[in-house]
Amino acid sequence: MNHFLDIHKTDLAALRSMIDQAAAMKQARQGRPKGAPDDTQPLANHMVALIFEKPSTRTRVSFDVGVRQMGGQTMLLSGNDMQLGHGETIADTARVLSRYVDMIMIRTFDETVLMEMAEYADVPVINGLTDRTHPCQIMADVLTFEEHRGPINGKKVVWTGDGNNVCASFLHAAGQFGFDLTFTGPSQLDPEDEFVGFARSKGCTITIERDAAKAVTGADLVVADTWVSMHDAQSARERRHNILRPYQVNEELMAHAKPDALFMHCLPAHREEEVTSGVMDGPQSVIFDEAENRLHAQKAVMRWCLGV
Ligand code: CP
Ligand code: NVA
Repeated sequence: MNHFLDIHKTDLAALRSMIDQAAAMKQARQGRPKGAPDDTQPLANHMVALIFEKPSTRTRVSFDVGVRQMGGQTMLLSGNDMQLGHGETIADTARVLSRYVDMIMIRTFDETVLMEMAEYADVPVINGLTDRTHPCQIMADVLTFEEHRGPINGKKVVWTGDGNNVCASFLHAAGQFGFDLTFTGPSQLDPEDEFVGFARSKGCTITIERDAAKAVTGADLVVADTWVSMHDAQSARERRHNILRPYQVNEELMAHAKPDALFMHCLPAHREEEVTSGVMDGPQSVIFDEAENRLHAQKAVMRWCLGV
């Protein structure tokens, strides 16, 4: 049994095999209705709990559909409806859930909730986003890049805007898959040293560049995310917008990247804020492939977790 908690905690051979299996499983489903079962049913007789303490469209639907395609069943739980946060410890919740279900996916605020769940659960636990990281998203993003452009190893990825949870997982992935990453954003929103340090310790080049046009020059992939994440105080909205505006991804900025550069966004996006519709709907954008690939990547993650 394996937990999937973060990209830097999972060894590269396992990450690579998950990406390859995701691509193969995607290929094997081409042309089938979304609800059709996969040829193999590795999750038959498995019950998976999907716990959400924050809103979600993609994570919720892609995990649910993925489990069902592989023959398993899901139980969708909202943090508010559970005893989580109402006095029962995470450790006790983990031990109780482990008596009912075969795997737990959780989206939560504080990363310590995820870690405690994993420590006390007897079944695999998957990180469906915390305030600090979002590893399932980046597995889908690596799959998406490679399906369009081949190996991501050695490429230049530029993260624009807030050095947030999704950026952190990109930095983990840079270290593991061996690509270079340039962060361009205001200094107040730099990614934490821990994430940058991990990527550098693995030998990749991590650059901090305040000038967005310089940063994007020569990029193979440009990535944006919302300027205000779910865990950010809404009161910080205006200040964040003011300092992040120079980092908007628009057609003028994209013109500095390589002509065949891709654009990614984990979604949900705020059109005309962090990215213009011209870029989102333009020829370089692969945002809906990314969203689809959440499904395929997470199916491989779940199989690895259960060893099936
Ligand atoms: N990208 C992503 O995780 O989307 P949701 O918040 O809709 O799950
Ligand atoms: N950074 C965003 C990602 C949403 C999928 C958030 O945490 O709200």
